[in-house]
Amino acid sequence: MPGVVIVGAQWGDEGKGKVTDLLAERAEAIVRFQGGNNAGHTIVRDGEEFKFHLIPSGILYPEKACVIGNGVVLDPRILLDEIEGLKRRGIDVGNLRISANAHLIMPYHVLLDTAGELKLGKLSIGTTRRGIGPCYADKALRLGIRVQDLLDEKILRKKILAALEPKQQALRELSVQRRKLRKEAGEGGREGGDQSVADAPDPRLDLHTMSEEFAGYGHRLEPHIADTSRLCWNVLDGGGTVLFEGAQATLLDLDHGTYPFVTSSNPIAGAACVGAGVGPTDIDEVWGVAKAYATRVGAGPFPTELDDAVGRHLLERGHEFGTTTGRERRCGWIDLVALRYAVRLNRMSALAITKLDVLSGLDVLRAAVRYRSREGAVFDSFPYHQSILHSAEPEYEELPGFEADLSTCRSEADLPPQARAFLDFVARFAGVPIRLVGVGPGRDQVVWIGDEPHLRAA
Ligand code: IMP
Repeated sequence: MPGVVIVGAQWGDEGKGKVTDLLAERAEAIVRFQGGNNAGHTIVRDGEEFKFHLIPSGILYPEKACVIGNGVVLDPRILLDEIEGLKRRGIDVGNLRISANAHLIMPYHVLLDTAGELKLGKLSIGTTRRGIGPCYADKALRLGIRVQDLLDEKILRKKILAALEPKQQALRELSVQRRKLRKEAGEGGREGGDQSVADAPDPRLDLHTMSEEFAGYGHRLEPHIADTSRLCWNVLDGGGTVLFEGAQATLLDLDHGTYPFVTSSNPIAGAACVGAGVGPTDIDEVWGVAKAYATRVGAGPFPTELDDAVGRHLLERGHEFGTTTGRERRCGWIDLVALRYAVRLNRMSALAITKLDVLSGLDVLRAAVRYRSREGAVFDSFPYHQSILHSAEPEYEELPGFEADLSTCRSEADLPPQARAFLDFVARFAGVPIRLVGVGPGRDQVVWIGDEPHLRAA
């Protein structure tokens, strides 16, 4: 009765959607366990592109249970848009199940996310401004609104009232501070697009309107609301496979990532248990997904970042623009110090390396194998102190590059020897076998290494 977790091994956008889609073929249920619509998963099926922010990648299998777990924060407007979009394309969403315990992203969370980032100015985190942090903060403060609250209008209104008052005050204060700062900087006038922090009562924060609007979402989502932990137990106890689909990635983990430049949830494998409501012994395998290079969106340390022709090559060849925000991603060489850290934190059993094709055309391939601090100290493992990470210089292993176009490779033998040597080096350094390699965006553009996984119990 296997439980299989898929996690991002870097800073996100590793191509987890595609790996989930491939492994989902062998599973009975696919569950998202954290994050919200800050994520963006792209899947290409028969030349058709699907982009998901909230709905688990398994939705393209109508016969499988597709679950939004309790650990997810959910913006119901976005979810309903995704549901409608899929229906318009003829995709059956009847098997979508939403945990009654998942928390809702409310309009004030989105406003607070933006206002908080604006206040931080140069120190901003570069969040997706989808309200993720403020929503998880309310969850911890026990001021959150949960999916189940949508089903009782009285309770919903009461809870919104309790949550709303401190938000109105916080937004007002942020607005005053920001205007003061702008004045000091000699910038006059009203803030262009920043009406979120305006003085007048914001119609988006009206209790009555919000309660009515959200009760309406409740009516529409009701057929999908369920006890999703029980659903997972039933599949696992019946000998089926549950795939736990992580969003974001290890280095964006709230506890173990490059804090504060992280997301507000735990994208590591251990969180699958909390965010889906299963036990640690339900997890049999952990697949980590890493690109053959590295990218990051938003601010924060990124030791192998490149600001040169190779960086442009990776950006352009890899189409490195965010699925959620459209932002240009920062690009660099693969960082094996960070990868080995991710392998251990997640206790990965397998690695999927994506976008190997993007490296073709580079004379030399590099992989960071240690960092050196300004003072000359050498770090073979991920330093716990953020200041070191900010200033550390990576030291690289150099491997020969390859020219060949990999997009039609379908077996290990099709790959040029230099590409195989690169993969070998990564696997040996990380200490985990590479089981899957991506050579293009299409579903069929993969190379399985060793046997294709049979995830079912023997
Ligand atoms: P938040 O999750 O919107 O609060 O953003 C916090 C940080 O995580 C920012 O640096 C974002 O760019 C980053 N982030 C959030 N979601 C993703 C993702 O799905 N892929 C890559 N980066 C992400």
